[in-house]
Amino acid sequence: MDQPLETYQDEIYLAGLGGVTPDLPTDLNELERAAAGRLTPGAYAYIAGSAGSGDTARENREAFRRWRIVPRMLTDVSSPSYASTVLGADLAVPFLLAPVGVLGVAHPGGEVAVARAAAACGVPIVLSTASSTAMEEVAEASGDGQRWFQLYWPQDRAVAASFLARAKAAGFTALVITLDTRMLAWRPRDLDQAFQPFLRGVGIQNYLTDPAFQESLAALASAGPAAPASAGPASADLAAPASADLAAAILQFTRIFGDRTLTWDDLSFARDHWDGPIVVKGILSVADAERAAGAGMDGIIVSNHGGRQVDGAIAALDALPAIVAAVGSRITVLFDSGIRGGSDMLKALALGARAVLIGRPYAFGLGMGGEDGVRHVLRALRNDFELTMRLSGYASLGELCPQSLVRAGPSS
Ligand code: GLV
Repeated sequence: MDQPLETYQDEIYLAGLGGVTPDLPTDLNELERAAAGRLTPGAYAYIAGSAGSGDTARENREAFRRWRIVPRMLTDVSSPSYASTVLGADLAVPFLLAPVGVLGVAHPGGEVAVARAAAACGVPIVLSTASSTAMEEVAEASGDGQRWFQLYWPQDRAVAASFLARAKAAGFTALVITLDTRMLAWRPRDLDQAFQPFLRGVGIQNYLTDPAFQESLAALASAGPAAPASAGPASADLAAPASADLAAAILQFTRIFGDRTLTWDDLSFARDHWDGPIVVKGILSVADAERAAGAGMDGIIVSNHGGRQVDGAIAALDALPAIVAAVGSRITVLFDSGIRGGSDMLKALALGARAVLIGRPYAFGLGMGGEDGVRHVLRALRNDFELTMRLSGYASLGELCPQSLVRAGPSS
């Protein structure tokens, strides 16, 4: 599968021959800093925020710095190909868009804008259950684009089965089950603003449009009046629930959002209701990677949810090598948490990930520039990755290996 290389760098330098300054920063760390002044405080905090002290999110980034690339010289990198096929997805370069919920808080275009940009760039999306747009509408925007569906496994099995049936019918080809979010963590940036999008009715659109969810609501209504949802103080960004019906739906959502009784045995339910590849997300230990392989999963995502769930957790990159050594020959190992540029991608791939997922960078791109902002991020990341690979001497993914890196020495 030959894919032309990304030409974003050339376009920037050569446009009109004098060059044209891009609208958004090309360094994705800088993009995040710029977003702080452009997004609403609630939206910025929700996307940038992490669990507790933020220690895990910082450690994710530090872990990348501890590995250094050892570039090789005088290899032929004239016509490289970094294409691969991962669980049925064709990747021109090995990255996908991680499931990020409630994107409507970042930009009115939300998941629809992301789906369009991703399809145009040939990058698969993983749509969150907590999307602010119903999955069918996102699928329509995605068109021929590749799409996977992420499941937050609800307590109500009828709703879970219905989500999976809808996702299948809407052309989502692989299922990603997030294991690390059966409840949301203590997140000071959101708490300090009392900003919880779900309680404002954003990010629950897949539930509101779901026949099984609606049935459960109707059953509740016939059983008696619903208690009002505790939505907290009004936010600067989003209005409180507009109607008693919405308040009841939000309350029901909070009741069923995460199934805390789930165990490994329950994964057979997903297998019974999904005939495509299944990937479990949030794996950080060899023991759990083995459990996932034993449960018949097709893949895992080594991830700590971008540091958003367990403060003080191991950096996802630090967990990766041992997990790859244990299960990498049996199931597909993917990676997310902390990718901000092409060199991060190279490092995760060299340590054995088959592909990586990016989250916050595209959410910030969306917030700052809608569909064009997402496109900017995807093109920048791809071009940066391709250049870093070529400059490091690699013409294909297969040439990467743990020896492509060294551990950084102790700082003096
Ligand atoms: C949900 O997935 C979140 O991290 O906010």
